[in-house]
Amino acid sequence: MNHYMPTRLFTGPSCIEQHIDALRALGSSCVVITDATVSRLSGALDDVLHALDSVGIANAVWDGVTANPPISSCIEAGRFASESGAQFIVGVGGGSALDAAKAISVFASNPELDEEGFYALRWNKSPLPIALVGTTAGTGSEVTKVSVLTDGLGRKHSIHDDRLYAAVSFGDSRHTHSCPLAVTLSTGVDVLAHATESYFSRKADEISRACAVRAIRLASEPLTIAAAEEALSSDHRTQLYDASILGGLAINTTGTCFPHNVGYYLTENYGIPHGFASAAFLPAMLERVHDYDPAYAAGFYDEVGTDEQAFVSLIEACLPTLNVQMSNKEIEAALPRWENNGSVLNTRADIFVDTIHEILLSLFVEH
Ligand SMILES: [Fe+2]
Repeated sequence: MNHYMPTRLFTGPSCIEQHIDALRALGSSCVVITDATVSRLSGALDDVLHALDSVGIANAVWDGVTANPPISSCIEAGRFASESGAQFIVGVGGGSALDAAKAISVFASNPELDEEGFYALRWNKSPLPIALVGTTAGTGSEVTKVSVLTDGLGRKHSIHDDRLYAAVSFGDSRHTHSCPLAVTLSTGVDVLAHATESYFSRKADEISRACAVRAIRLASEPLTIAAAEEALSSDHRTQLYDASILGGLAINTTGTCFPHNVGYYLTENYGIPHGFASAAFLPAMLERVHDYDPAYAAGFYDEVGTDEQAFVSLIEACLPTLNVQMSNKEIEAALPRWENNGSVLNTRADIFVDTIHEILLSLFVEH
Protein backbone atom coordinates (compact mmCIF):
# COMPACT_ATOMS: atom_id res chain seq x y z
CA MET A 1 0.00 0.00 0.00
CA ASN A 2 0.97 3.59 -0.45
CA HIS A 3 -1.15 5.86 1.70
CA TYR A 4 -0.50 9.43 2.81
CA MET A 5 -3.11 12.00 3.82
CA PRO A 6 -1.93 14.47 6.45
CA THR A 7 -5.04 16.72 6.59
CA ARG A 8 -6.87 16.91 9.90
CA LEU A 9 -10.51 16.38 8.98
CA PHE A 10 -13.56 17.30 11.04
CA THR A 11 -17.10 16.55 9.92
CA GLY A 12 -20.47 16.94 11.59
CA PRO A 13 -22.83 19.73 12.67
CA SER A 14 -21.02 22.87 13.88
CA CYS A 15 -17.62 21.25 13.36
CA ILE A 16 -15.99 24.61 12.55
CA GLU A 17 -17.19 26.19 15.77
CA GLN A 18 -16.27 23.13 17.80
CA HIS A 19 -12.76 22.87 16.43
CA ILE A 20 -11.89 26.53 16.06
CA ASP A 21 -8.55 25.85 17.76
CA ALA A 22 -7.46 24.09 14.59
CA LEU A 23 -7.89 27.39 12.71
CA ARG A 24 -6.30 29.42 15.48
CA ALA A 25 -3.23 27.23 15.22
CA LEU A 26 -2.70 28.42 11.62
CA GLY A 27 -2.16 32.10 12.47
CA SER A 28 -3.84 35.36 13.39
CA SER A 29 -4.85 36.59 9.93
CA CYS A 30 -6.26 34.96 6.81
CA VAL A 31 -7.87 35.52 3.45
CA VAL A 32 -11.10 33.64 2.80
CA ILE A 33 -11.38 32.41 -0.80
CA THR A 34 -14.88 31.79 -2.07
CA ASP A 35 -17.44 32.38 -4.82
CA ALA A 36 -19.77 35.36 -5.00
CA THR A 37 -23.08 33.67 -4.17
CA VAL A 38 -23.28 29.98 -3.27
CA SER A 39 -21.11 30.03 -0.16
CA ARG A 40 -23.34 32.77 1.27
CA LEU A 41 -26.56 30.91 0.43
CA SER A 42 -25.21 27.72 1.98
CA GLY A 43 -24.52 29.43 5.30
CA ALA A 44 -20.90 28.27 5.20
CA LEU A 45 -19.36 31.69 4.68
CA ASP A 46 -21.28 33.16 7.62
CA ASP A 47 -20.26 30.26 9.84
CA VAL A 48 -16.61 30.66 8.88
CA LEU A 49 -16.54 34.44 9.34
CA HIS A 50 -18.34 34.15 12.65
CA ALA A 51 -15.87 31.52 13.86
CA LEU A 52 -12.86 33.62 12.77
CA ASP A 53 -14.24 36.76 14.43
CA SER A 54 -15.04 34.88 17.63
CA VAL A 55 -11.35 34.13 18.21
CA GLY A 56 -10.00 37.40 16.80
CA ILE A 57 -8.49 36.07 13.57
CA ALA A 58 -8.27 39.05 11.17
CA ASN A 59 -9.86 38.19 7.84
CA ALA A 60 -10.55 39.53 4.38
CA VAL A 61 -12.82 37.88 1.82
CA TRP A 62 -11.86 37.37 -1.84
CA ASP A 63 -15.03 36.14 -3.54
CA GLY A 64 -13.94 35.98 -7.16
CA VAL A 65 -13.95 32.19 -7.59
CA THR A 66 -15.82 30.97 -10.67
CA ALA A 67 -16.48 27.45 -12.00
CA ASN A 68 -13.42 25.72 -13.49
CA PRO A 69 -11.23 28.41 -11.91
CA PRO A 70 -8.82 30.13 -14.31
CA ILE A 71 -5.25 30.23 -13.08
CA SER A 72 -5.13 33.98 -13.85
CA SER A 73 -7.70 34.63 -11.12
CA CYS A 74 -5.66 32.53 -8.66
CA ILE A 75 -2.58 34.65 -9.43
CA GLU A 76 -4.63 37.79 -8.76
CA ALA A 77 -6.03 36.44 -5.48
CA GLY A 78 -2.58 35.23 -4.44
CA ARG A 79 -1.19 38.74 -4.84
CA PHE A 80 -4.12 40.10 -2.83
CA ALA A 81 -3.39 37.61 -0.03
CA SER A 82 0.32 38.40 -0.14
CA GLU A 83 -0.26 42.17 0.03
CA SER A 84 -2.73 41.77 2.87
CA GLY A 85 -0.11 39.88 4.90
CA ALA A 86 -2.37 36.87 5.45
CA GLN A 87 -0.80 34.02 7.40
CA PHE A 88 -3.12 31.38 6.02
CA ILE A 89 -5.81 30.76 3.39
CA VAL A 90 -9.35 29.49 3.99
CA GLY A 91 -11.22 28.04 1.01
CA VAL A 92 -15.02 27.93 1.32
CA GLY A 93 -17.23 26.35 -1.34
CA GLY A 94 -17.42 23.50 -3.81
CA GLY A 95 -14.56 21.96 -5.73
CA SER A 96 -13.76 25.14 -7.64
CA ALA A 97 -13.29 27.23 -4.50
CA LEU A 98 -11.30 24.54 -2.69
CA ASP A 99 -9.01 23.89 -5.67
CA ALA A 100 -8.55 27.64 -6.21
CA ALA A 101 -7.70 28.13 -2.51
CA LYS A 102 -4.94 25.52 -2.80
CA ALA A 103 -3.40 27.31 -5.80
CA ILE A 104 -3.85 30.73 -4.16
CA SER A 105 -1.90 29.55 -1.12
CA VAL A 106 1.01 28.89 -3.51
CA PHE A 107 0.77 32.29 -5.22
CA ALA A 108 0.34 34.07 -1.87
CA SER A 109 3.80 32.97 -0.75
CA ASN A 110 5.28 33.16 -4.28
CA PRO A 111 3.67 36.32 -5.74
CA GLU A 112 6.28 36.49 -8.52
CA LEU A 113 5.44 32.98 -9.78
CA ASP A 114 3.92 32.72 -13.28
CA GLU A 115 1.61 30.12 -14.78
CA GLU A 116 4.44 28.03 -16.19
CA GLY A 117 6.36 27.97 -12.90
CA PHE A 118 3.20 26.98 -11.09
CA TYR A 119 2.49 23.97 -13.32
CA ALA A 120 6.17 22.97 -13.24
CA LEU A 121 5.95 22.97 -9.40
CA ARG A 122 8.88 25.42 -9.21
CA TRP A 123 7.68 27.04 -6.02
CA ASN A 124 10.51 28.63 -4.06
CA LYS A 125 8.58 29.09 -0.86
CA SER A 126 6.11 26.71 0.77
CA PRO A 127 2.45 27.60 0.22
CA LEU A 128 0.63 29.31 3.07
CA PRO A 129 -1.21 26.85 5.32
CA ILE A 130 -4.66 25.96 3.97
CA ALA A 131 -8.00 25.39 5.69
CA LEU A 132 -10.95 24.12 3.61
CA VAL A 133 -14.70 24.18 4.20
CA GLY A 134 -16.75 22.13 1.73
CA THR A 135 -20.25 23.06 0.57
CA THR A 136 -20.90 20.36 -2.03
CA ALA A 137 -20.86 16.58 -1.80
CA GLY A 138 -18.70 15.59 -4.71
CA THR A 139 -15.22 16.97 -5.08
CA GLY A 140 -13.48 15.35 -2.10
CA SER A 141 -10.92 18.14 -2.53
CA GLU A 142 -11.00 18.56 1.26
CA VAL A 143 -8.74 15.51 1.57
CA THR A 144 -6.68 15.54 -1.61
CA LYS A 145 -3.40 17.04 -2.77
CA VAL A 146 -5.05 17.87 -6.10
CA SER A 147 -5.97 21.20 -7.66
CA VAL A 148 -7.67 21.37 -11.06
CA LEU A 149 -7.38 24.74 -12.79
CA THR A 150 -8.02 26.13 -16.25
CA ASP A 151 -5.02 27.58 -18.08
CA GLY A 152 -4.79 30.67 -20.30
CA LEU A 153 -5.83 28.59 -23.33
CA GLY A 154 -8.96 27.27 -21.65
CA ARG A 155 -7.52 23.80 -20.95
CA LYS A 156 -8.07 22.08 -17.61
CA HIS A 157 -5.01 20.72 -15.82
CA SER A 158 -4.87 18.69 -12.68
CA ILE A 159 -1.81 19.21 -10.50
CA HIS A 160 -0.83 16.97 -7.63
CA ASP A 161 1.61 17.92 -4.92
CA ASP A 162 1.98 17.06 -1.23
CA ARG A 163 2.31 20.78 -0.46
CA LEU A 164 -1.34 21.25 -1.52
CA TYR A 165 -2.81 19.27 1.34
CA ALA A 166 -4.97 21.37 3.63
CA ALA A 167 -3.77 21.60 7.21
CA VAL A 168 -7.38 21.21 8.28
CA SER A 169 -10.69 20.58 6.50
CA PHE A 170 -14.22 20.95 7.77
CA GLY A 171 -17.31 19.25 6.40
CA ASP A 172 -20.64 20.22 7.91
CA SER A 173 -23.15 18.60 5.56
CA ARG A 174 -25.81 21.16 6.56
CA HIS A 175 -23.90 23.46 4.20
CA THR A 176 -24.94 21.20 1.31
CA HIS A 177 -28.68 21.45 2.11
CA SER A 178 -29.28 24.47 -0.11
CA CYS A 179 -27.68 22.78 -3.12
CA PRO A 180 -30.19 22.71 -5.99
CA LEU A 181 -31.08 19.30 -7.42
CA ALA A 182 -29.01 19.71 -10.61
CA VAL A 183 -25.91 20.58 -8.57
CA THR A 184 -26.55 17.74 -6.11
CA LEU A 185 -26.67 15.36 -9.07
CA SER A 186 -23.70 16.76 -10.98
CA THR A 187 -21.48 16.82 -7.91
CA GLY A 188 -22.94 13.56 -6.54
CA VAL A 189 -22.30 11.62 -9.71
CA ASP A 190 -18.69 12.87 -9.51
CA VAL A 191 -18.47 10.78 -6.31
CA LEU A 192 -19.42 7.69 -8.34
CA ALA A 193 -16.85 8.66 -10.96
CA HIS A 194 -14.08 9.14 -8.38
CA ALA A 195 -14.81 5.88 -6.62
CA THR A 196 -15.27 3.79 -9.76
CA GLU A 197 -12.24 5.22 -11.55
CA SER A 198 -10.17 4.74 -8.41
CA TYR A 199 -11.21 1.09 -8.03
CA PHE A 200 -10.25 0.43 -11.66
CA SER A 201 -6.99 2.40 -11.46
CA ARG A 202 -3.73 0.52 -11.87
CA LYS A 203 -2.62 2.16 -8.61
CA ALA A 204 -5.55 0.88 -6.52
CA ASP A 205 -4.61 -0.77 -3.22
CA GLU A 206 -6.54 -2.23 -0.28
CA ILE A 207 -7.11 1.15 1.40
CA SER A 208 -8.17 2.98 -1.77
CA ARG A 209 -10.49 0.12 -2.78
CA ALA A 210 -12.09 0.06 0.68
CA CYS A 211 -12.73 3.82 0.46
CA ALA A 212 -14.05 3.51 -3.11
CA VAL A 213 -16.46 0.68 -2.29
CA ARG A 214 -17.80 2.43 0.80
CA ALA A 215 -18.20 5.69 -1.14
CA ILE A 216 -20.38 3.97 -3.73
CA ARG A 217 -22.40 2.13 -1.09
CA LEU A 218 -23.08 5.40 0.75
CA ALA A 219 -23.77 7.48 -2.37
CA SER A 220 -26.10 5.07 -4.16
CA GLU A 221 -29.20 5.64 -2.04
CA PRO A 222 -29.15 9.47 -1.95
CA LEU A 223 -28.34 9.58 -5.67
CA THR A 224 -31.23 7.24 -6.48
CA ILE A 225 -33.53 9.61 -4.57
CA ALA A 226 -32.10 12.75 -6.19
CA ALA A 227 -32.29 11.18 -9.65
CA ALA A 228 -36.02 10.62 -9.02
CA GLU A 229 -36.22 14.37 -8.31
CA GLU A 230 -37.20 13.80 -4.71
CA ALA A 231 -35.86 15.88 -1.82
CA LEU A 232 -32.97 14.50 0.21
CA SER A 233 -33.29 14.21 3.99
CA SER A 234 -30.59 15.61 6.20
CA ASP A 235 -29.30 12.05 6.79
CA HIS A 236 -29.07 11.45 3.07
CA ARG A 237 -27.14 14.70 2.64
CA THR A 238 -24.69 13.55 5.32
CA GLN A 239 -24.40 10.14 3.68
CA LEU A 240 -23.58 11.75 0.31
CA TYR A 241 -21.09 14.13 1.89
CA ASP A 242 -19.31 11.29 3.69
CA ALA A 243 -19.25 9.39 0.40
CA SER A 244 -17.56 12.37 -1.29
CA ILE A 245 -14.82 12.40 1.37
CA LEU A 246 -14.24 8.67 0.90
CA GLY A 247 -14.14 9.16 -2.88
CA GLY A 248 -11.54 11.89 -2.33
CA LEU A 249 -9.43 9.57 -0.19
CA ALA A 250 -9.66 6.91 -2.90
CA ILE A 251 -8.49 9.15 -5.78
CA ASN A 252 -5.88 10.76 -3.58
CA THR A 253 -4.00 7.47 -3.74
CA THR A 254 -4.85 6.38 -7.25
CA GLY A 255 -5.67 9.47 -9.32
CA THR A 256 -8.54 9.27 -11.77
CA CYS A 257 -8.82 7.37 -15.06
CA PHE A 258 -9.79 8.31 -18.60
CA PRO A 259 -13.41 9.38 -17.87
CA HIS A 260 -12.18 12.38 -15.88
CA ASN A 261 -9.63 13.41 -18.45
CA VAL A 262 -11.87 12.99 -21.48
CA GLY A 263 -14.59 14.70 -19.43
CA TYR A 264 -12.39 17.82 -19.22
CA TYR A 265 -12.84 18.14 -22.98
CA LEU A 266 -16.66 18.23 -22.61
CA THR A 267 -16.40 20.88 -19.90
CA GLU A 268 -13.95 23.05 -21.83
CA ASN A 269 -15.74 22.89 -25.19
CA TYR A 270 -19.38 22.28 -24.33
CA GLY A 271 -19.72 23.74 -20.82
CA ILE A 272 -20.87 20.41 -19.37
CA PRO A 273 -20.57 20.48 -15.53
CA HIS A 274 -17.57 18.46 -14.33
CA GLY A 275 -19.43 15.58 -12.66
CA PHE A 276 -21.73 14.94 -15.63
CA ALA A 277 -18.80 15.27 -18.04
CA SER A 278 -16.80 12.60 -16.20
CA ALA A 279 -19.68 10.23 -15.49
CA ALA A 280 -20.74 10.30 -19.15
CA PHE A 281 -17.76 8.01 -19.82
CA LEU A 282 -18.25 5.60 -16.91
CA PRO A 283 -20.49 3.12 -18.78
CA ALA A 284 -17.88 2.88 -21.57
CA MET A 285 -15.16 2.39 -18.96
CA LEU A 286 -17.12 -0.32 -17.12
CA GLU A 287 -17.55 -2.26 -20.35
CA ARG A 288 -13.82 -2.18 -21.06
CA VAL A 289 -12.57 -2.96 -17.55
CA HIS A 290 -14.92 -5.93 -17.57
CA ASP A 291 -13.46 -7.21 -20.85
CA TYR A 292 -9.92 -6.67 -19.58
CA ASP A 293 -10.31 -8.55 -16.27
CA PRO A 294 -13.75 -10.08 -15.69
CA ALA A 295 -12.79 -11.50 -12.29
CA TYR A 296 -11.62 -8.10 -10.99
CA ALA A 297 -14.80 -6.45 -12.29
CA ALA A 298 -16.94 -9.17 -10.68
CA GLY A 299 -15.13 -8.48 -7.39
CA PHE A 300 -16.09 -4.81 -7.70
CA TYR A 301 -19.81 -5.54 -8.17
CA ASP A 302 -19.72 -8.08 -5.33
CA GLU A 303 -18.15 -5.61 -2.93
CA VAL A 304 -20.46 -2.77 -3.94
CA GLY A 305 -23.48 -5.10 -3.74
CA THR A 306 -24.83 -4.52 -7.23
CA ASP A 307 -24.37 -5.74 -10.80
CA GLU A 308 -23.14 -4.02 -13.92
CA GLN A 309 -26.58 -3.37 -15.37
CA ALA A 310 -28.00 -1.87 -12.17
CA PHE A 311 -24.89 0.23 -11.61
CA VAL A 312 -24.94 1.61 -15.15
CA SER A 313 -28.66 2.37 -14.72
CA LEU A 314 -27.91 4.38 -11.58
CA ILE A 315 -25.24 6.40 -13.40
CA GLU A 316 -27.54 7.01 -16.37
CA ALA A 317 -30.41 8.05 -14.10
CA CYS A 318 -28.18 10.81 -12.66
CA LEU A 319 -27.14 12.11 -16.08
CA PRO A 320 -29.17 14.70 -17.99
CA THR A 321 -29.28 14.59 -21.78
CA LEU A 322 -25.97 16.09 -22.82
CA ASN A 323 -26.28 18.54 -25.64
CA VAL A 324 -23.04 17.54 -27.33
CA GLN A 325 -22.61 16.87 -31.01
CA MET A 326 -19.18 16.33 -32.46
CA SER A 327 -17.82 15.71 -35.91
CA ASN A 328 -15.22 13.07 -36.64
CA LYS A 329 -12.89 15.87 -37.73
CA GLU A 330 -13.23 17.58 -34.37
CA ILE A 331 -12.51 14.34 -32.51
CA GLU A 332 -9.44 13.62 -34.65
CA ALA A 333 -8.11 17.09 -33.87
CA ALA A 334 -8.57 16.49 -30.12
CA LEU A 335 -7.09 12.98 -29.94
CA PRO A 336 -3.39 13.91 -29.54
CA ARG A 337 -4.10 15.23 -26.05
CA TRP A 338 -4.76 11.66 -24.91
CA GLU A 339 -1.50 10.19 -26.29
CA ASN A 340 0.54 8.95 -23.32
CA ASN A 341 -1.92 10.66 -20.99
CA GLY A 342 -1.48 9.62 -17.34
CA SER A 343 -5.22 9.19 -16.65
CA VAL A 344 -5.70 7.09 -19.78
CA LEU A 345 -2.72 4.85 -18.95
CA ASN A 346 -3.92 4.62 -15.34
CA THR A 347 -7.09 2.80 -16.41
CA ARG A 348 -6.99 -0.94 -15.69
CA ALA A 349 -8.01 -1.89 -19.23
CA ASP A 350 -6.68 -1.75 -22.77
CA ILE A 351 -7.37 1.91 -23.47
CA PHE A 352 -5.54 3.59 -26.33
CA VAL A 353 -6.16 6.76 -28.27
CA ASP A 354 -8.12 4.63 -30.77
CA THR A 355 -10.37 3.50 -27.93
CA ILE A 356 -11.11 7.10 -26.95
CA HIS A 357 -11.86 7.83 -30.61
CA GLU A 358 -14.31 4.92 -30.76
CA ILE A 359 -16.03 5.99 -27.51
CA LEU A 360 -16.42 9.63 -28.58
CA LEU A 361 -17.76 8.54 -31.97
CA SER A 362 -20.34 6.25 -30.41
CA LEU A 363 -21.50 8.80 -27.84
CA PHE A 364 -21.42 12.12 -29.66
CA VAL A 365 -21.43 11.67 -33.43
CA GLU A 366 -24.76 11.15 -35.13
CA HIS A 367 -24.84 8.07 -37.34
FE1 LIG B 1 -14.11 14.86 -10.23
